[in-house]
Amino acid sequence: MFDPEQFVADCRAAVAADPTHKAVREILARAVSEPAAVLNGLGEPKRPESRTLFHSVSLTILNVIWAPGMMVMPHDHRMWAVIGVYSGREDNIFWRRIPSTPNKVEAAGAKALSEKEAIAFGFDIIHSVINPIGRLTGAIHIYGGDFLTVERSEWDAMTLDEHRLDREQRRRLFEQANERYEASQQHTAG
Ligand SMILES: [Fe+2]
Repeated sequence: MFDPEQFVADCRAAVAADPTHKAVREILARAVSEPAAVLNGLGEPKRPESRTLFHSVSLTILNVIWAPGMMVMPHDHRMWAVIGVYSGREDNIFWRRIPSTPNKVEAAGAKALSEKEAIAFGFDIIHSVINPIGRLTGAIHIYGGDFLTVERSEWDAMTLDEHRLDREQRRRLFEQANERYEASQQHTAG
């Protein structure tokens, strides 16, 4: 059984006892090892969204639902992160700053994250995310800080140049994904 309130309480207690990602990663790995229980507790993914389950200065917990084919451009977090997938898949591309042109990034690696998997990212990770499958992906994202307001960077999808993260644009990304998803569902239903 997965109880979202208990899960949040467990993560808060873990971070209070140990501010690194270690204990939280274990809690999340345990949770997504039983995807059916998480789906039962959080509900089946219905539409693309990023829902805040908990938010404080030291901890942010999000339930992120990616639309089919949805992509988020390279960005940093400036705090540790732990991501666990409970439905579908999330592909990560990792990027690094180019020493001779530090405001640009180059691809440095990749990690396909499947259902039941949880991974931890360090403070200075830069990644982009894609949902490569034809249905919604559900993942719990946990950050070791105030993820919703901290100043962060993202890198232009076309030029890979760094700029300040535009939260309004990020919000619109989910809105547009929602509109496209709803239209595709109506098309399927019709
Ligand atoms: Fe991220």
